[in-house]
Amino acid sequence: MSAPAPRTASRKILVTNALPYANGPLHLGHMVGYIQADIWVRFQRMCGHDVTYVCADDAHGTPIMLAAEKAGLAPEAFIADIQKSHEADFKAFGIAFDHYHSTHSDENRQLSETIYTALKNNGYIASRFIEQAYDPVKDMFLPDRYIKGECPKCGTADQYGDNCENCGATYGPTDLKNPFSVVSGATPVLKESEHYFFSLSKLQAEVQAWLAAADVHASVKAKLAEWLDGGLKDWDISRDAPYFGFEIPGAPGKYFYVWLDAPIGYFASLSALLGNDAEKLAAFIGPDSTAELWHFIGKDIINFHGLFWPAMLKGAGYRQPTGLSVNGYLTVNGAKMSKSRGTFIKARTYLDAGLNPEYLRYYFAAKLSDGVDDLDLNLDDFVARVNSDIVGKYVNIASRCAGFVEKFFAGKLPMSLDGACSDAIGLLSNVENPVTSIDDGSSHLHPIRALYEKRDYAAVIREVMDLADTTNTFIHNTAPWTLAKNLDTEQKRTDLHQFCGIFLNIFKVLTVYLKPLLPNLAKEVELFFDIPELSWNDVDSRLLGTKIRSYTNLANRIDLAQIKAMIAASTESLAPVEVPNAKPAKAASAPAAAAPVGGSDTHASIEDFAKIDLRIARIEHAEGVDGADKLLRLTLDLGAMGKRQVFAGIKSAYPPEKLIGRLTVMVANLAPRKMRFGMSEGMVLAASGDDGGPFLLAPDDGAQPGMKVK
Ligand code: MSP
Ligand code: ZN
Repeated sequence: MSAPAPRTASRKILVTNALPYANGPLHLGHMVGYIQADIWVRFQRMCGHDVTYVCADDAHGTPIMLAAEKAGLAPEAFIADIQKSHEADFKAFGIAFDHYHSTHSDENRQLSETIYTALKNNGYIASRFIEQAYDPVKDMFLPDRYIKGECPKCGTADQYGDNCENCGATYGPTDLKNPFSVVSGATPVLKESEHYFFSLSKLQAEVQAWLAAADVHASVKAKLAEWLDGGLKDWDISRDAPYFGFEIPGAPGKYFYVWLDAPIGYFASLSALLGNDAEKLAAFIGPDSTAELWHFIGKDIINFHGLFWPAMLKGAGYRQPTGLSVNGYLTVNGAKMSKSRGTFIKARTYLDAGLNPEYLRYYFAAKLSDGVDDLDLNLDDFVARVNSDIVGKYVNIASRCAGFVEKFFAGKLPMSLDGACSDAIGLLSNVENPVTSIDDGSSHLHPIRALYEKRDYAAVIREVMDLADTTNTFIHNTAPWTLAKNLDTEQKRTDLHQFCGIFLNIFKVLTVYLKPLLPNLAKEVELFFDIPELSWNDVDSRLLGTKIRSYTNLANRIDLAQIKAMIAASTESLAPVEVPNAKPAKAASAPAAAAPVGGSDTHASIEDFAKIDLRIARIEHAEGVDGADKLLRLTLDLGAMGKRQVFAGIKSAYPPEKLIGRLTVMVANLAPRKMRFGMSEGMVLAASGDDGGPFLLAPDDGAQPGMKVK
């Protein structure tokens, strides 16, 4: 383990991750970008580079201000709670930030003021009056998403000001008929106010020059170039009070728009890490900095990072980013994450299901190549992939060999591998120096290192699992377990020892390759070999004559029950109402208060009600259930939404044949419940009281199966 490090120049690299909004918990979609960046950071560190990795909560803006108000908290208290939850989730997933800060911090206020003032002094800030929708009851200007009304084309109610969910028409918020403020319900009025603008157009050429030289994926460059070709428009960077943010110097009642101070938050976090040492900070962000600056972001925010931010930096006299790493969007089981399907999975829910966070890191990595494509978390594939790759292929190598070394050789690896057959030695050297199928010209680097460098983790995993496959085949053919049955000559002993030495050395090399993805598992392996932290140079330093520790199981298979628990805990359902004694779902983020069930003294908010998906259903079939006197098994037709089986305790009032063909109302997004008689996939609504019942609800004539009840 003592091969000297090859003297490649050490790089100084600042890595940032998009700052998550402090308005809610992290979900698995968020985790994609953080995992992607953390893997790169760990990889660069293993190569001996000097990496600083920072992030922060993005704490400003109207949505956070209103969310805090709704929660009955001061914004400062609200964002502090959320930040705590974000940090805990990041830690659990092994995201090893050097510092985690908040945009609502002294550092960020100072840096924002400094950068703004520099932009102003350099002639890039202008002001003019604009007219905007204003809520006269709440006394605030309304961002577009806070205005709703009727579609100007088809008249559908409750539409946002950009497009109609019903007829697909696109329009602006002022086109809505009978518009209302989502905040107060009042009719918005138009009101004038002075706004401050960043004159992006004056920096068009500079942004273009930056983009040409920056390390940005071709598809992102193309998108940014398209915007640039269209000409940059000046950017409105001020908002009127009330606003949660920083007041603009010299402009009372005016606040920086959240996206002005958000990216500055990267530097604020760094500054806090550096103890606010101006000189150290300048070495990263000053115009002459020789450090690299990498931003890891999702594809929805490339305009901010690829246009506005480089322009701000240039205009204010700072360095510009070296590169952007852009991730696509996560889907689950092939579709957008959905609360009713239980695929809107919070990071915390994944953890609470007892699933190993490193398995998600591994799976995301397997789906992340250097492009910007969306990626899918297919839960069946996730289980199969992790169980097969990590447990079945990689860890299997150690578990098949370690016991023999312990039992027959006192836990000692062979002093040399020279006595091994040439095929086995050839296998080890091929693992140390694989000839990969990928040849991209960066041939001065170890091929797997080159793949990590360009963040093609999917290719890393393909190559490493190929090597693991070859090794397992070799082990299978060598069958050390057969050799171990007959060790009556010294030669036979040496053979077994040599083979195991080779296989365990291969396992060590594969561990180096996988360490950025599976840092904790790699730590276990380091303990098993009783060696210091593995770095990239350990790829070709062989373990000879050293003692291993007794092997204990390194990785467990995923149990399907864990996945089911996670989905169940993510499914928005009415289970606690339906089953009064049910325990609160495990993922409940707030301590479950002893809420009265069914009492009339509880208030449901309109949002609570909106969570319930009520639909018109046609009873296609109804029959009694053997062994349950009161129950009927109903087959409900929901039109385009398909069919559902539901059990309903209404047999006393309705002979089954009377129900067939009737319309009723059902709750369509209840989590499916396994009952003694089969799955119940919803619930029909009926009234009952002291005066009798149940009375099944039914719509008026004309309602169609599948229609939403609201
Ligand atoms: N606060 C801004 C970023 C400011 S950076 C100066 C923001 N916050 S966010 O919470 O909405 O998103 C944080 C990151 O998660 C972004 O990079 C965003 O693209 C990413 N994602 C959010 N949902 C995602 C998926 N479903 N899939 C993949 N990434 C996703 O944007
Ligand atoms: Zn319409």
